[in-house]
Amino acid sequence: MPYDGGRFSPEKPSKVSVKKLAILGSTGSIGNSTLSIVESFPDRYSVVSLAAGRNLDAAFDQCQRWRPRVISMADEQLADALSARLKSAGVTGIEVLHGSSGAIRVATLPEVDFVVSAIVGVAGLEATYAAVCAGKTIGLANKECLVAAGEIITAAARSHNVALLPIDSEHNAVHQCMRGGDRSEVNRIWLTASGGPFRNTPAADFDHITVAQALKHPTWVMGRRITIDSATMMNKGFEVIEACRLFDAPPSQVKVTVHPQSTIHSLVEFIDGSVLAQLSVTDMRLPILYALSYPERVASDLAFDLSTLSQLDFSPPDFARFPCLRLAYEAAEAGGAACIALNAADEIAVAAFLDGAIPFTGIARTIERVLERTPAAHPDTIAAVLASDSEARSLAREMLTPHGRRAASKSQ
Ligand SMILES: NC(=O)c1ccc[n+]([C@@H]2O[C@H](COP(=O)([O-])OP(=O)(O)OC[C@H]3O[C@@H](n4cnc5c(N)ncnc54)[C@H](OP(=O)(O)O)[C@@H]3O)[C@@H](O)[C@H]2O)c1
Repeated sequence: MPYDGGRFSPEKPSKVSVKKLAILGSTGSIGNSTLSIVESFPDRYSVVSLAAGRNLDAAFDQCQRWRPRVISMADEQLADALSARLKSAGVTGIEVLHGSSGAIRVATLPEVDFVVSAIVGVAGLEATYAAVCAGKTIGLANKECLVAAGEIITAAARSHNVALLPIDSEHNAVHQCMRGGDRSEVNRIWLTASGGPFRNTPAADFDHITVAQALKHPTWVMGRRITIDSATMMNKGFEVIEACRLFDAPPSQVKVTVHPQSTIHSLVEFIDGSVLAQLSVTDMRLPILYALSYPERVASDLAFDLSTLSQLDFSPPDFARFPCLRLAYEAAEAGGAACIALNAADEIAVAAFLDGAIPFTGIARTIERVLERTPAAHPDTIAAVLASDSEARSLAREMLTPHGRRAASKSQ
């Protein structure tokens, strides 16, 4: 079954077999939610391999609990430390690897059926691409992969006949709604946005937004980068690009609507005027379960209480207060290096904001300056994407130095 964003009606399996999982980013928010699904459905899912970053304690606990055949850590030192801890705890039979080659091995082990891609940032790109090329079904949470290398990954998914099943709640909702019609019958895709913590904040106050305020998302509990990206609405911008790639849609066909209740996770408008929406609890375990069990639906306790539906509000996004969304639409139109730079510059700028080095409004300013200096190009290999990514990061770091800021303000 190909990745295509049209109607999904593959045959359901006649017999349930245990799906063997590789989880990239097992120690993160999505990784932990995935493991909680595995915990709830041991007859359906099992863990074969894990890739973590720097959280040694969590990786050690996961090894003890899940006994993966292979685990990978971000670097060699961490892998050595984990090996030593496992040895002294008497835990044997786990191969401990590291770095990008380790994550690739985790994702491509022959016995793995399904790869959950949930490493944050482009660190997850090579392993996700390798998993696609190895023919694994992918549950895709890592949106940065599709932003930076969406054209390459979807082309590989087509040629390897691999399903890319979205875990991001909005795309998961679109995927579910798409089952109601044919891709050619879709008029528009509507991504809902909560509006983040600053939905009603006046423009004049944006320069004084603190890190603590930006980390307080009104409806979702997530990792730090995606929480800041939600506050700037860059996250929604990434999702626009992600939707274009996953559902083969031009940016003009993907719209954003601010829906503060976060009850409707997204909508698909068909050519006859029908609009299908997906509603559910705000709990990432639901889209993860959907992706893991697709094309079946599995009974769960994630029930939605219709009586809580007293009000549903929708309004257009404010591109002036949230310039990151405008920058993302512009990058989506340009494609290639512009999308790579958008993601890379955002990662650097968000880290600088979290470190207190730039104000909240400095995030969009930094990204815009990097985009202005990024030449149009369409890297066509993962290596070329990573090279372009690292150029954009250098440029973003340069923009963040006092000299870079002065030079940028003179050229404006
Ligand atoms: N959380 C959500 O609700 C949500 C919703 C939709 C989409 N997403 C997307 O899903 C992805 C994960 O988000 P998250 O919220 O789960 O992030 P998170 O909580 O920050 O977790 C990130 C994971 O990536 C791992 N990691 C980071 N750098 C790594 C490296 N160099 N090598 C190997 N692993 C590395 C981290 O390991 P350590 O912790 O061990 O360092 C952790 O397991 C992101 O792309 C995000 O945009 C998340």
